[in-house]
Amino acid sequence: MSHTDAPAAAASGARATDKFRHKEVRADTPPERLSAIINDTLQGLFEVIRRHKITYAEYDAVKAWLIKVGEDGEWPLWLDVFVEHEVEEVSTAHRQGSKGSIEGPYYVPGAPELPARARMPMRPDEKGTPLLWKGQVTSVEGTPLGGAQVELWHADDDGYYSQFAEGMGIPEWNLRGTIVTDEEGRFEIQTMQPAPYAIPMDGATGQMTVAAGWSPFRPAHLHVKVSAPGHEQLTAQLYFRGGEYTDDDIASAVKPELLLDPQPRTDGGAGKEVTYGFVLDPVA
Ligand code: DHB
Ligand code: FE
Repeated sequence: MSHTDAPAAAASGARATDKFRHKEVRADTPPERLSAIINDTLQGLFEVIRRHKITYAEYDAVKAWLIKVGEDGEWPLWLDVFVEHEVEEVSTAHRQGSKGSIEGPYYVPGAPELPARARMPMRPDEKGTPLLWKGQVTSVEGTPLGGAQVELWHADDDGYYSQFAEGMGIPEWNLRGTIVTDEEGRFEIQTMQPAPYAIPMDGATGQMTVAAGWSPFRPAHLHVKVSAPGHEQLTAQLYFRGGEYTDDDIASAVKPELLLDPQPRTDGGAGKEVTYGFVLDPVA
């Protein structure tokens, strides 16, 4: 597809905010820790104000823009693009198993359950390059994790996510599924390769991105959440080696360990195939 004619996923920010409201949020941060975090955040801000000699006009522009981010429902989008990668890095630094990446704003729990060998829910005429993905879920000791869940969600060949692209007629659970591994921890999923994704350009996040002269793209990616009893849940994204924007991700969420290199299918089937598995850390 040509990225320039991709319409912004209208209202996707507002949908993401709606969904997030259903998430149970509980941080239990004690007052001393909270006070230190707020103080350090403000000190960082003061440092920027002094270094760049921020003007009153700029201060008011920021105020107006912050109000608009909220009005557009874009806090989940903005935070997940510009901040989440750092939280992800810090909170998974102790792990021995597979590398993870950000969740982003478009995860929806409860996607239809699928057997270990399955085709993702998709439209009969779903566009794109078919992708056969084989893998295994194991523990850090190499024990196969049968009955593990691999929740997979990703954009379609136009860069749109089901449930977040209003008015595009995408079925509710399109390209979203919960695969359950077999007794050897294996799975084999047929899906369609996603296209690169452009953050919505019709809201405050897009406005900031354009004003700063930045590229609004994320490289094509598959999102996963992998879980098994007694193990830390792994949230990751897989990218495509050599794909556009893998070196210029607006969300700074690409890691070398997360690059797939699909090859033509060996069984004569259409599209490509790739093998990529996951190693889960034990719960501490
Ligand atoms: C955003 C969208 C994504 O698909 C993603 O993986 C991360 C962030 C966003 O628009 O904020
Ligand atoms: Fe995404």
